[in-house]
Amino acid sequence: MTLERQTEQQGQQRVQPQAEAQTDGDVRRIALLTSGGDAPGMNAAVRAVVRKGLYHGLDVYGIKRGYAGLLADEIQLMEPGSVADIIQRGGTTLYTARCEEFKQPDVQDQAARILARHGIDSLIVIGGDGSFRGALALARRGIRTIAIPGTIDNDIPGTDYTIGFDTAVNTVIGAIDKIRDTATSHERTYVVEVMGRGAGDIAMIAGLAGGAESIVIPEAPFVLDDVISKLRHGVERGKRHSIILVAEGVCRGMDIGDQIADATGWEVRVTVLGHLQRGGSPTAFDRSLASRMGAHAVDLLLGGETGKMVGIRGSQMVATDIAEALATERRLDLSIYELAGILSL
Ligand code: ADP
Ligand code: F6P
Repeated sequence: MTLERQTEQQGQQRVQPQAEAQTDGDVRRIALLTSGGDAPGMNAAVRAVVRKGLYHGLDVYGIKRGYAGLLADEIQLMEPGSVADIIQRGGTTLYTARCEEFKQPDVQDQAARILARHGIDSLIVIGGDGSFRGALALARRGIRTIAIPGTIDNDIPGTDYTIGFDTAVNTVIGAIDKIRDTATSHERTYVVEVMGRGAGDIAMIAGLAGGAESIVIPEAPFVLDDVISKLRHGVERGKRHSIILVAEGVCRGMDIGDQIADATGWEVRVTVLGHLQRGGSPTAFDRSLASRMGAHAVDLLLGGETGKMVGIRGSQMVATDIAEALATERRLDLSIYELAGILSL
């Protein structure tokens, strides 16, 4: 069925808009997609965009499989029921993909033409910084585009938190608690490798909240001898097990585990938590963050904005130019890292 036909049919059944669209432009038909690595809470953001858009009387379309689905014309009309029962689900019901060819300008031109052909004037992209670059490219091609930060890595400037980070941290803490049980029983040292791409946020916050003995992150200098001295010092004080959290952006956990075992002669075990950090039901924090960000993205479009990303600063929703956010160097609050070190002595 064509999009136009789908829209006509929906027009016959559509719930009445409950608010006047306060648009200073011609926002009428919006689309949304999820792109890059999935993150728990993306579904809550999708739900919020769809329901807030319908509330304002807009036509809302879901694009499947990120930019790859956009190029393949995988576009479907969304109704209130399309997003029923998904707020609690991890992953993304719109599916996600990585699409290398979308980095090419001529392919971005083609994507803008596809949207224009369907009369879609506005787009909301939920994803990480790579997805934001694609969003910016479309904004520069005249599609009103707003980006929502959805990634477990928490590595996007312009927001204190990204959707999915809190859930991932809670998953890591749950894993650390379990590993600590067996580490205690066997009196062993464990190295746990966590995700985060180039960012140490997951390792730092999960390390603080999980009581890790050492945390290794890309943002702080790391000297293996210091980690080992700290472990030895702990043993001298009667500590009989330890957990070292390593962010994947530094090196493989296995490498650190081998080096500690070689230097100490202790039995060391290594756990790579991997993709289980990307799954699971989103926490209340992520659901609420995603719901607020999704709704704010629609408000930004209705207010005539484009090329902006939604963020949270303190407890407030904020908007930043995507270009500015991408050009900003992100600073991790290393006082938290230092505190974790003090508390784990
Ligand atoms: P994330 O969005 O989670 O950071 P990626 O970095 O893999 O994940 O990016 C997701 C997708 O965003 C890519 O597969 C590609 O389609 C698009 N993308 C990434 N970088 C660019 C870029 N420089 N220009 C246009 N699109 C991009
Ligand atoms: O960006 C999210 C993330 O999970 C990173 O933490 C990790 O490095 C990467 O994606 C893994 O990507 P893939 O899904 O391609 O294995």
